[in-house]
Amino acid sequence: MLSISSSHFEKYTMYFKKLSMNVLVSVQSFYYTLVLYLSAFVTLMTPGTVIWKIFGNRKGKVHLMSRDLICDSETLTKLPKCSKPLDQFTNALCPFLPTFLLDSDNSWKQRRNVFSFGNDIIIERIGQISADFRLTSKPGNILWDVFEMISRYSFQLVFNRPPTNEEFNRIYPGLLDINRIIKRFTSTPDVKIRQNFYDEVLKLIQDNDKDFLFHSCETFFQMEEIHQVSSVAEDFLTTITVQCTDLVCHMLLVYSEHADDFQNQFDNALNETLRLYPLTDLWMRQPYGGQRGWITSLVQLNRNGWAQPDAFSCERWNLPKHPPLMSWGFDIRRCPAQKLATNVSKLVFQAIVNQEGFWIEPAANFQHERTFPYGCQAWIGYGEKPKNARQWKFENKLRMQLRRWLCEKLRMIDQNELN
Ligand code: HEM
Ligand SMILES: *[C@@H]1O[C@H](CO)[C@@H](O)[C@H](O)[C@H]1NC(C)=O
Ligand SMILES: *[C@@H]1O[C@H](CO)[C@@H](O)[C@H](O)[C@H]1NC(C)=O
Repeated sequence: MLSISSSHFEKYTMYFKKLSMNVLVSVQSFYYTLVLYLSAFVTLMTPGTVIWKIFGNRKGKVHLMSRDLICDSETLTKLPKCSKPLDQFTNALCPFLPTFLLDSDNSWKQRRNVFSFGNDIIIERIGQISADFRLTSKPGNILWDVFEMISRYSFQLVFNRPPTNEEFNRIYPGLLDINRIIKRFTSTPDVKIRQNFYDEVLKLIQDNDKDFLFHSCETFFQMEEIHQVSSVAEDFLTTITVQCTDLVCHMLLVYSEHADDFQNQFDNALNETLRLYPLTDLWMRQPYGGQRGWITSLVQLNRNGWAQPDAFSCERWNLPKHPPLMSWGFDIRRCPAQKLATNVSKLVFQAIVNQEGFWIEPAANFQHERTFPYGCQAWIGYGEKPKNARQWKFENKLRMQLRRWLCEKLRMIDQNELN
């Protein structure tokens, strides 16, 4: 008798323990979800930065209501393998279908093969093409100056000649429109401009000049039209232009304070720039293989586990043991263009700063942030620096912040960024 009732008693305590654990988990995940969503909504920071501010150096997973938050790179790389896209929402790129949005079906494989074909040729072309990378002297937003230079260069890499004015005028506005949405300077695409971009690239593909990147690539011409155009317009022209512009601008801003590091230990300086300013904010996955869906912040992954994580320090890359750089991705979906992108960005960056007498001075009221909410506000000059260079401030900061805040929130809702 006694033994039965004691085992009953044990059962009951187990049951209550479990129940109260469940209640605790639910209350906790409700609390964390609420804190995260509210802070992401009210602050000017991006969700990725908010996550770093709230959860900092915590390890493992945080149980949110509808998914897990992965806090460190070790936990992330130990997850079961999956080749689904990291990021399924983006209206920034229509009418294109970039590789990173395709599921791991047959067209993804074709696109990946075609990509690596083009990638190899471009890496050879990089050194052979000459281009002019001199920034105009001026105080102001240099982001679009860099963007325009790199967009011409990306055309050269793909077609092995500079664009004619006509071609450039039909392509460039499309590139600009895409980047303005990615940067949250506007919230809806200009479909007509995108269509011009699409049509112009289609025409160039159909011309199939002997120097065209895919001239002798059978797989490329076996793909449907949308994939052919996306591959050229999105995977190469847009991605090179958008990503390398950001990286070059980040390096220029860091260079204004750490010029020696870029002269003496360029590779470390590049890694340290990408550690502090990764080009993506969040990665997300829908549930797969019995796993909960997850979300992770690149800002947190890149800082979690480093000493003085917010400081710029090139020497940390010389330590024998350190956390990995996560900015290029982490699994089968990681960036297939790391070498190309490093090479192009290095070439453009060095060509800019090695101009005779080059100097750069960011505006006195400018803060270096990951997403360029007010562009890249800096004074560029050659030779002697004017005495007032350090006092110059850019205008309309508040207005730009508000516009950016609004577009970002519209997009968070439109694309279910945190759901
Ligand atoms: C300049 C710095 C660059 C960085 C830091 C970078 C980083 C990344 C990351 C993190 C991903 C994973 C997907 C995601 O974030 O959602 C990715 C994917 C990709 N990147 Fe890059 N990227 C850079 C430049 C480039 C360039 C210049 C190209 C093209 C020439 C390129 C082509 C791609 C492609 C095609 C994918 C999709 C791969 C797939 O889903 O199969 N990237 N990149
Ligand atoms: C920079 O990061 C890349 C990518 O993680 C790595 O392969 C490379 O070794 C790093 N460079 C240095 C100098 O540590
Ligand atoms: C880019 O890569 C090519 C070939 O691998 C190499 O010759 C060249 O020095 C590289 N350029 C830069 C700026 O890294």
